[in-house]
Parts: sequence; C-alpha cells; structure tokens
Amino acid sequence: MQEIDALKRQAAEAAVAQIESGMVVGLGAGSTALKALECIAERLAMGTLTDILGVPCSEQVAADARRLAVPLTTLDCHPEINLTVDGADEVDPQLRVIKGGGGALLREKIVAQASEREIIIVDERKLSERLGVKWALPVEALSFGLRAHVEYIERLGAAVEVRTRPDGSPFRTDSGNLILDCQFGPMEEPECIAGALERRAGVIEHGLFIDLVTDLIVASPSGTQHLTR
Ligand code: A5P
Repeated sequence: MQEIDALKRQAAEAAVAQIESGMVVGLGAGSTALKALECIAERLAMGTLTDILGVPCSEQVAADARRLAVPLTTLDCHPEINLTVDGADEVDPQLRVIKGGGGALLREKIVAQASEREIIIVDERKLSERLGVKWALPVEALSFGLRAHVEYIERLGAAVEVRTRPDGSPFRTDSGNLILDCQFGPMEEPECIAGALERRAGVIEHGLFIDLVTDLIVASPSGTQHLTR
C-alpha cells in the first residue's frame, strides 16, 4: 500500500511540474488526484507556484482544496481551464480511459472538456490492453425510469449493478443521480458503447473518456513515463 501511495505521489509530482504560475487548473477527484492537490498546496506554500485558481471536480475535492488553502474558482468565472490533473481507473494504449470509480465522472468530464490539457495520472496497475478488463464502466443515470435504463444497458451486453453505499442505501452523485456499474468485459469498440449510452435519455453521462486525454503520466517502480497524444 505504501508503495502504491509512493507511485501515486510520483505521478502527481510529474503532473504538477507542468503547472505554471497564473494558470487555471482543473482539480480531479480520487486518491491519485488528491496527491496532485497536495503537491500544488505545497508549492503554493513554498512560493514556487503563485496565482493558481483551481476548478474542483467534486464537492469533496472542493473541501480538500479549502482545507489545503488552494484558491478555487468556478467554470462560470473561468470557462477555459489551462490544465487539468485527474486520475483514472483503467487506461488503454490509445489513451482512452475509464473514470468514475469515485462517482465524479460527470463533473470530471465537464472540466476535461473545458481544459486545454487533460493530464491523467496513474500507477502502472491501471494500464490495460483493452478497457473493461479491469473495471466496470460507471454510468451516471437519472433515478426516474431506472429499470428501463438498466435493461437498456443490459441489452448492450453489460451486467449492471446499481452502486450502493456501505449501509446499503443508493449512492448519489453530487448532482443527486445514481451510478450504474456496468460490466461490459473487454471492450472491442469503446466508441460504440459510448455512442449507444449517449443516445439514451436518462443516461446523464458515462465514464468513457475518449479523445479527451492529452497526456498520460504512468508511475512504476522503474520510473515515470509521460505519454502525449
Ligand atoms: C473519480 O470519480 C474517478 O474518476 C477517479 O479519478 C478514479 O476513480 C481514480 O481514482 P483513484 O486515483 O483513487 O484510483
């Protein structure tokens, strides 16, 4: 565990090295992105980075940023983000990723689409030859018509589970919606699955990030690799 934490920190440091003073920075969700937020806070405290404004991808990230004294803004005030640093659950060789393990995929995608650069930071466990091998695809769905959404996604070939909290109650996103964890297995064509989900009313967003990632930073015990698209 300590080793994985060190790898996350390694990837985070490499990404934060890309941030320049004065930038508007998208702040991703999850444990790896939190390491990047901590690095940003440290650099702000040291004065090696100044005038940063962060756009948080979740309420939790906003709370973490406040705790770490990282100044925040909103997309309404700053609709163009210079660079976002975020984690991922699974990454393929074409830099397509699955995100949403923490349920923040909708805001993460909105922030990614507003970003000039989307830097994804992972440790090597997240690399996959084919998306869907390691992770179910999270889909944010409206609770109205839930059964119909579930059956639609099952017809696309997935086993679907409605995400719950440890006490058994349904998990709710920051926007009050449900998360469906959709086990598609190895995806031959993630674009087709993404398209079919996007055509469905009631599906708010899915965790496939295609053509959005500009940089991938992978940390492994032998060093850090930085790939760009
Ligand atoms: C949050 O909804 C996710 O997209 C995270 O970025 C993703 O689950 C990676 O999280 P970890 O860095 O904690 O593995």
